[in-house]
Amino acid sequence: MNELDSIVDSARQAFAAAATPADLENAKARFTGKAGRITELMKGMGALGVDEKKTRGAAINLAKQAIEAALADRRQALADAELQAQLKAEALDVSLPGRLREPGGLHPVSRTMERIELIFSSMGFDVADGPEIESDWHSFTSLNNPPNHPARSMQDTFYVDIKGDDGVAYNLRPHTSPMQVRYAHQHIKKHADAARAGAAMPEIRVIAPGRTYRVDSDATHSPMFHQCEGLWLGDNVSFKDLKVVFTDFCRTFFESNDLALRFRPSFFPFTEPSAEIDIQFQSGPLAGRWLEVAGSGQVHPAVVRNMGLDPEKYIGFAFGMGPDRLTMLRYGVDDLRLFFDGDVRFLRQFR
Ligand code: PHE
Repeated sequence: MNELDSIVDSARQAFAAAATPADLENAKARFTGKAGRITELMKGMGALGVDEKKTRGAAINLAKQAIEAALADRRQALADAELQAQLKAEALDVSLPGRLREPGGLHPVSRTMERIELIFSSMGFDVADGPEIESDWHSFTSLNNPPNHPARSMQDTFYVDIKGDDGVAYNLRPHTSPMQVRYAHQHIKKHADAARAGAAMPEIRVIAPGRTYRVDSDATHSPMFHQCEGLWLGDNVSFKDLKVVFTDFCRTFFESNDLALRFRPSFFPFTEPSAEIDIQFQSGPLAGRWLEVAGSGQVHPAVVRNMGLDPEKYIGFAFGMGPDRLTMLRYGVDDLRLFFDGDVRFLRQFR
């Protein structure tokens, strides 16, 4: 084998041994690079005569072409191998079963809230929303529950590290009752122009559902729970109206006329007289038991005054009910905490 053939041969072997494109480029440099063997041979031709140069040059060129062809083949082979490896690594197994996307659903308490809003809207009640971080005045004082009044201890309240203009800490509202006063203020503002022009201000008829907070936690109490406030103030709204409205609501909500209501005397600073509302199913698994669902009463004149209204002209009732409780009764759930654990095995049942 002559020298050129053996160079081409060793180039082919070096290229074949190169496992990566980088190895291949290094191998190439040893033959056709600046200090490569072919390049060295070319440089060595200077001393030759014209005819010899021709034959020698043609021979070296042939060898060079053979090396370049081998190089191109190997480059292609390495690129193909790389592509194959990548395709293999990223392969999709289209025979795998798809991941099932479960349809979502409304939370059972949200369903109850929607139901409450629908029923009261149909009775002409507005639906209002308000802050969960509330001032001391709105949560207590405006509701005829002044600082140091023993009735404040009825509710174990969370306080927030922010003080109001009165220097008293804000609280996480322990009930939705502050919405009575807030809504009345909004209502007066909204109708101020008409009132100045001599028009009578429309009566107030509103519910205010939302989240409430108390330091309380067991199977029937959660530190975060829901309430829905109701308020109807007009020139002659009485306890009788409360009975009619609430009875109608309960029968519609539970889709049953087989339901008794009891108004049990109670105390709240912001209502006088006050009553706890109990319901009793006449049939079904809960039949015969009295179940407390709301606090209620005729709005106290001091509260009406704090609303900015004349208690001689505006009288009516308020109630605060527990949508969580209603949800438990409607679906037969016995542990309130299930509603707030977020366990889909539980929630799935309400889809
Ligand atoms: N706010 C009272 C509570 O949380 C309920 C209530 C509301 C009672 C309105 C009377 C009138 O217990």
